[in-house]
Amino acid sequence: MKKETIQPAKYLTGGLDLPGDKSISHRYAMLAALAEGASELRHFSAAADCHSTLACMSALGAEVKTGKGMVRVTGRGPRGLRSSWRALDAGNSGTTMRLLTGILAGQEFSSKLTGDDSLRKRPMKRVIGPLREMGADVRAREDNFAPLEIRGTRLRAIDYQMPMASAQVKSAVLLAGLFANDVTSVTEPARTRDHTELALEEFGAAIEKDGRTIRVHGLGGGNGRGKLTAKSLDVPGDLSSAVFFIAAASLFPDSNVLIHNVGLNPTRTAILDLFASMGASIQILGLKSAHGELIGDLAVKGASLKGGVIAAEQIPLVIDELPMLATLGPFTEDGIEIRDAAELRVKESDRIAALAENLRRMGASVQERADGLKVEGRRTGKLRGAEIEPRGDHRIAMAFAVAGLAAEGNTVIRDAECAGVSFPTFYAELNRLAER
Ligand code: S3P
Repeated sequence: MKKETIQPAKYLTGGLDLPGDKSISHRYAMLAALAEGASELRHFSAAADCHSTLACMSALGAEVKTGKGMVRVTGRGPRGLRSSWRALDAGNSGTTMRLLTGILAGQEFSSKLTGDDSLRKRPMKRVIGPLREMGADVRAREDNFAPLEIRGTRLRAIDYQMPMASAQVKSAVLLAGLFANDVTSVTEPARTRDHTELALEEFGAAIEKDGRTIRVHGLGGGNGRGKLTAKSLDVPGDLSSAVFFIAAASLFPDSNVLIHNVGLNPTRTAILDLFASMGASIQILGLKSAHGELIGDLAVKGASLKGGVIAAEQIPLVIDELPMLATLGPFTEDGIEIRDAAELRVKESDRIAALAENLRRMGASVQERADGLKVEGRRTGKLRGAEIEPRGDHRIAMAFAVAGLAAEGNTVIRDAECAGVSFPTFYAELNRLAER
């Protein structure tokens, strides 16, 4: 277990390129494996999570070749996957497990899907439920947890009213819908990231959007297009990774950071609006569109952050950014309060407990609640460096590394390499940009 020591910084300066977007990379890899022919996925994510997806698609018979900054995935069409002789391993990746369950439910063979200790504790009922309505045969430990055994079968289309705002659940049903007899629809209670819809469109599936309802035509059915087409695609930089550098730069008045080629899909950018409403200085430069996704550069300068309350329908739109926002609390004027976010307890770790524990280790004043937490602002004093226990959770490790830059004394991140789940070069980049 490698430790990383974070020394206080004076400010952040310089340019930064990010790993490719994790959410988009997963989806491109899965759809490329279902398409006919070779897809070139440039700037594919370096995240361990996305490499778990590639390993699964390769075990299912797609040809996967990784080059520098590029992955080539060759599929044999929607019926071209074949059974894997060993259990498919999703590692730490909830997205891999939930989305792949949707695909595997409609195959003509059986699969076993497992993951690491953290993933085997995360709820899967949320995808098993709707997939069973489609006729899927999925078995799980305690009917909720991996390992999952998925006996592929013919699926029927459903109209699914999603009880929760989850992009992973929506995506699992839409991907299963490719293998259903007719038109499958999903209606979401609140907006979530729409990369699956956009990627399905790119690969040539018949898909329609109508408000919060998304419809996908089964590939075998009447209006369905029959197959997916291999594509050559560029993955934008991951905004959820950028957020750690936006936060770090914001902490110091003299910071000046330019983050290149960041994915700015409107279902992901609520975090930028939130930062702006708290007084952050972020400018979007060179906005353009590629493959249905928006991309731009972000120029970030230091600012004095006000803080505030994050709740209700904001939560699913900034779900992955909440660890960084909560950790910024002690550096803000009014502190940060997060409500309606019980979902944080079933992420890669119990993020509410992990945040409360580690913030307290640094001397912050925190109230932990069932569905969130309240972190007092800068009036309660400067944070001190401490030893941080990230509980194997990449976003907890990275959030506290950022806090360590503005704390008094050194901060030590235990088990620091867990950051590689989304951002393998995170510490090297943070140290490169930090002036000491
Ligand atoms: C993701 C969706 C979100 C997010 C996760 C990635 C995706 O999860 O937290 O990191 O790629 O679809 P939920 O859909 O469970 O909220």
